[in-house]
Amino acid sequence: MLVRLFFLALFFTCALLQSNYVTFSRDDTTILLNPERGFYSEVETQSVLESPQPLADSDMSDLLSQNIVLIQRSWYMKALRNTSSLPTSQLQLVAKDFAMIRKYNFKIIPRFTYSQDPTEPDASMAIIQSHLSQLTPILQNNSDIIAVFQAGFIGSYGEWYYSSNNINNIGNYTLLINSLLSILPQDRVIQIRVPQYKQQIYNSITSPYNVNSPATGIRSSNYSRIGIHDDCFLADAYDQGTFNIDTDRQWLANESLRIPFGGESCATSSYSVCGNAKIDLAKFHMSFVNIAYFPGVISSWKSGGCFNEFANKLGYRLSLISASTNINGNQVSYSIAFNNSGYAAPYNAYQIHLGLVNSAGVVYNLPLSHDVRYWTPEVSPIVISSTVSLSSNVPFDSYRMLIKVCDPLLSSASYCIKLANTDTSYNATTGYHSLKSSILYNSTTLQTQVATPTVAQSSTTSPSINSASTLLAKTSMIVAVLSSILLCM
Ligand SMILES: *[C@@H]1O[C@H](CO)[C@@H](O)[C@H](O)[C@H]1NC(C)=O
Ligand SMILES: *[C@@H]1O[C@H](CO)[C@@H](O)[C@H](O)[C@H]1NC(C)=O
Ligand SMILES: *[C@@H]1O[C@H](CO)[C@@H](O)[C@H](O)[C@H]1NC(C)=O
Ligand SMILES: *[C@@H]1O[C@H](CO)[C@@H](O)[C@H](O)[C@H]1NC(C)=O
Ligand SMILES: *[C@@H]1O[C@H](CO)[C@@H](O)[C@H](O)[C@H]1NC(C)=O
Ligand SMILES: *[C@@H]1O[C@H](CO)[C@@H](O)[C@H](O)[C@H]1NC(C)=O
Ligand SMILES: *[C@@H]1O[C@H](CO)[C@@H](O)[C@H](O)[C@H]1NC(C)=O
Ligand SMILES: *[C@@H]1O[C@H](CO)[C@@H](O)[C@H](O)[C@H]1NC(C)=O
Repeated sequence: MLVRLFFLALFFTCALLQSNYVTFSRDDTTILLNPERGFYSEVETQSVLESPQPLADSDMSDLLSQNIVLIQRSWYMKALRNTSSLPTSQLQLVAKDFAMIRKYNFKIIPRFTYSQDPTEPDASMAIIQSHLSQLTPILQNNSDIIAVFQAGFIGSYGEWYYSSNNINNIGNYTLLINSLLSILPQDRVIQIRVPQYKQQIYNSITSPYNVNSPATGIRSSNYSRIGIHDDCFLADAYDQGTFNIDTDRQWLANESLRIPFGGESCATSSYSVCGNAKIDLAKFHMSFVNIAYFPGVISSWKSGGCFNEFANKLGYRLSLISASTNINGNQVSYSIAFNNSGYAAPYNAYQIHLGLVNSAGVVYNLPLSHDVRYWTPEVSPIVISSTVSLSSNVPFDSYRMLIKVCDPLLSSASYCIKLANTDTSYNATTGYHSLKSSILYNSTTLQTQVATPTVAQSSTTSPSINSASTLLAKTSMIVAVLSSILLCM
């Protein structure tokens, strides 16, 4: 009797909890063209007065053939550094570049500067502010395709170190940062060159972040919108002046849990070899690296056999581990486990949708609310579970289950995250992956919504009768429920 009870309980718990439990295989090798991460290309142009090089279709298709979908665009404006008003043709150059990024479904890391060498002058803060206000409509119009914005403007390469106008001081850094924070939407991050500047602006050499930092409120503070780009990554113990004090490396490891980090190398060293680079790319949660600079470092990664690994792991690499979906009445319940086998969490918001496809091929989208910006490798596996209601226009039918993780600001499926699995067939038109399961929504399942409370009550039996047999029965039920959670998986 008890044995029968055990198996009965096992069966029903399985049916209730795990009726649609599936597991997935991880893909560690395929290069996935995922947005806002990976190797990027730095593409420069001079101003309209000095042989400009607008982004061309051929540039874009060439990069795409190298699996690159992220451009760090540097607009040098040397001949305009004394001109308080940018000519319309300069604004058109910038706007057309953004249009080209959009046309090819790329993302952009913009940077504006006036100096390409420590010996070249920059512009005054008044001129910078004037140019920035002219650029504001273009930046705001295109903020959806901006991955992160690099602060630029001051000094050579916009790195804030040298300044012929002596605006390389904390007062002017703060002015520029505050302007950029207010111009760009709240959800976008601004990267500056070295930790010390952020530490000075916010008067703290300690990062507030660690792996257990609260998984809410990201980008709600100005602090959480300022990141670092290291343009001398892996050069030496201090990355040629990037780090100022010994704790700066740990500071960056902490900060990059919540704020995007990326950049380029500038010299080969014992730090840049594959063995150490693997450790540091993971430690600093590196999201993107320049594919062309420094050439010696990139070629050492190719000859050392770590280049493809980096191409796969820079930023996020999300895969499905398992999924369980069910329907009770019009409530679709799900419990889905993801892995992030990359180096960082996605740093801009992506919306997860469940898709229900009926027998006629019509897809019903169910938007879920989970914030992928907290999905660091350290907290993997990440399990999301909840219920969502089907709206009354969803007809009774059998539904195949799909899932997609897409940029909520852009409609092209190119801006959806391709999951790193071998068995979740991806639809490049819709961005949906298969969840390898289906659910039956019919008049009977709708009625079970009413029946559920009764079932729930009977399992919390009255504690008044404490005979040995009911205790045994109860134990048997609990064991069954627990084993089913393990076995049905
Ligand atoms: C800008 O002004 C500075 C100082 O007046 C001058 O030295 C420099 O030649 C000017 N540069 C350009 C490009 O006009
Ligand atoms: C904003 O973008 C649209 C296309 O997305 C374009 O037609 C318009 O000219 C842009 N405005 C500015 C100020 O760039
Ligand atoms: C910006 O730098 C200039 C030149 O050094 C200086 O005169 C000015 O006070 C600085 N502005 C602020 C707000 O600190
Ligand atoms: C955040 O930055 C904005 C834009 O510069 C500024 O208006 C606001 O006061 C800042 N908020 C805090 C809390 O410092
Ligand atoms: C990094 O985070 C750890 C853990 O919270 C903390 O102990 C440490 O002070 C942080 N380090 C820096 C430099 O911010
Ligand atoms: C998650 O990713 C890490 C890093 O690649 C890997 O070691 C681990 O086995 C993965 N876990 C699962 C369940 O896929
Ligand atoms: C992708 O989805 C669209 C829209 O549902 C569908 O028409 C198309 O057949 C799908 N493609 C594949 C390869 O399944
Ligand atoms: C609804 O689905 C359940 C579960 O598969 C099935 O037992 C039942 O017969 C179906 N009811 C109708 C009316 O189709």
